[in-house]
Amino acid sequence: MKNVIVVGSQWGDEGKGKIVDWLSSEADVVVRFQGGHNAGHTLVIDKKVFKLRLLPSGIVREKKISILGNGVVIDPWALLDEIKEIKNKGISVTDENFMISESASLILPFHQEMDEIREDIAGKSKIGTTRRGIGPCYEDKVGRRSIRVMDLRSESNLDNRLKNVLAHHNAVRKGLNKKIYKKDELKKKLLKIAPQILKYAKPVWLELDKFIKNRKKILFEGAQGILLDVDHGTYPYVTSSNTVPSMASTGTGLGPDKLNYILGITKAYTTRVGSGPFPTELNNKIGESLGKKGKEFGTVTARKRRCGWFDGVLVRQTIKISGINGIALTKLDVLDDMDEIKICVQYELNGKKIDYLPSAPEDQFNVRPIYKTFPGWKTKTQGIRHMKDLPENAKKYVYALEDFIGAKISSISTSPERDDTILLEDPFKI
Ligand code: IMP
Repeated sequence: MKNVIVVGSQWGDEGKGKIVDWLSSEADVVVRFQGGHNAGHTLVIDKKVFKLRLLPSGIVREKKISILGNGVVIDPWALLDEIKEIKNKGISVTDENFMISESASLILPFHQEMDEIREDIAGKSKIGTTRRGIGPCYEDKVGRRSIRVMDLRSESNLDNRLKNVLAHHNAVRKGLNKKIYKKDELKKKLLKIAPQILKYAKPVWLELDKFIKNRKKILFEGAQGILLDVDHGTYPYVTSSNTVPSMASTGTGLGPDKLNYILGITKAYTTRVGSGPFPTELNNKIGESLGKKGKEFGTVTARKRRCGWFDGVLVRQTIKISGINGIALTKLDVLDDMDEIKICVQYELNGKKIDYLPSAPEDQFNVRPIYKTFPGWKTKTQGIRHMKDLPENAKKYVYALEDFIGAKISSISTSPERDDTILLEDPFKI
């Protein structure tokens, strides 16, 4: 029996939702361990579209437990809205099939406002965040002043915690000429929704320990991608959490010895939303066509995603950093019409060839990709479910990619539909 961790191996939006949903048919428990409602997962089930932001993808399946771990930052109002929205689509969300860690930090209105203020002030050098308050909330967590789910249990405790966090935020807001937050107003708002949130609150680490003892299969659902990791990504153009698989342990309270198989979701080309370096970006018709065919618009912010060729150097790097065991390759069908397809196999920086992305942003902006070119297959691969049915040139592309990045491709997704997948290796059965 294995527990599986799913992470994005690029800049997010690799199509994790579909893979997690498919894997959750075998899992008993699906857990998110970092990020918040900056994530956007689109699931297509029987032609019905579900857009999830905070809820784990397992929620759409019956008899599965869905969990938000302590590493997740929770906007309580956004959570309640999402629960309401999904309930309206006939999905059941109860304290039996859903729980949240009592230690998770809450995103409050001033976090979201601060995210906006900072992005607006930064002008051209903005990060391009989702403006959901993710960064400011994680800052408060590390600054030991955040309001956590458990603080909603006692009015006097909440009062003290709010006093503490507002002493910091109101000082900053004063400096920025922004309105001062009134503790009692915010407390009232929080106490109003507290019972609806607290009914899901549990010590998640303890529950996970019980699941492990009962031999339940756990699926950890990463959000964003390794290149957005606050330590290992393209800093400062990153999110504010660790997106690497080891966070599945820190962000839930389950020991790393229980994390067995790491599945990296990898798009057959590259996309990125927000600012930051992107060596293989295509600011031309090819990039536009990838965006159009791949429907590359953000689930959360509806922003147009930047598109480019597959960056083998970067994915090889993220595989090493994160310990990925296998790759689920997604959106291969988006390349169906291409005359030729390129993989970046090296960079050139100041006249020198290099085999990895350097850490300094100025170098990351300046590397020039060196490509290997493959002939396109010009045949429809959409909906193919067996490797033998793939056109020869598509197989060659997939094998070359696998060989270069150094990890086994365990599945290939050929459409947004749940069953349109070529399965080469089942992570839960290895
Ligand atoms: P934040 O997470 O909202 O602070 O945004 C920081 C960076 O991460 C920005 O470049 C966002 O576009 C990016 N980002 C955050 N969440 C996602 C996601 O789910 N998919 C892709 N990019 C994301």
